[in-house]
Amino acid sequence: MPPDELNKHQIEDGNTPLTGDETGGLIPPHLTTRADLNQWEIRNIERAMGWIGGRTLNVLDQAILQELHRRMFDETWKWAGEFRDSDKSISAYHWTEVPRLVRDLLANTQAQYEHGAKIPKALDELAIRFHHEFVRIHPWPNGNGRHSRLATDLLLQSWERPPFSWGNAAHPTKSGEVRARYIAALRAADAGSFDELRRFARA
Ligand SMILES: Nc1ncnc2c1ncn2[C@@H]1O[C@H](COP(=O)(O)OP(=O)(O)O)[C@@H](O)[C@H]1O
Ligand SMILES: [Mg+2]
Repeated sequence: MPPDELNKHQIEDGNTPLTGDETGGLIPPHLTTRADLNQWEIRNIERAMGWIGGRTLNVLDQAILQELHRRMFDETWKWAGEFRDSDKSISAYHWTEVPRLVRDLLANTQAQYEHGAKIPKALDELAIRFHHEFVRIHPWPNGNGRHSRLATDLLLQSWERPPFSWGNAAHPTKSGEVRARYIAALRAADAGSFDELRRFARA
């Protein structure tokens, strides 16, 4: 994946509430503001992109999926690459369900790929469903949005599909509007209508 693909994986989040444990998992001791942390995370993710180096990774392999999160946040959070061990307001799923839910999602996506039509529309749809369910499970204490957008683009790459545009903004980090559309599209998908998310993903 080229370096200019990077920014769109950094859509500003702001405020997933962290538990005391997770804040305690912050590695750099000197960061004081949210902006400092954002910058630090951007560098960490840039190093992860360097590690990928344009390779095609099989993110339906759970070890690789976890390694991707670890590489994106290994210099930021002690728990990088490890599933959450507390509940999140964003996810309806209890944290103890996460390992099974992720395993099932990966296996189901692989099975649908193998048995489905290998045409662009079908592959994009499968990637949309994968992304939506993955962020619904919300496997990580933090970094779910950034990790799952990158994982989805790598999934598309492994199927020889171009990455999603994710709202088609050059710098979504700066745009509250893009984030609002993204969250609204995820909510609509929660309610069973995926049109907004399809339009958002390939603007
Ligand atoms: N109602 C919602 N509000 C915020 N984020 C949501 C919501 N529903 C799903 N999400 C997903 O959760 C992500 C935010 O989770 P978080 O772990 O903080 O990720 P990141 O730190 O990468 O932004 C969003 O990018 C989105 O993918
Ligand atoms: Mg966050």
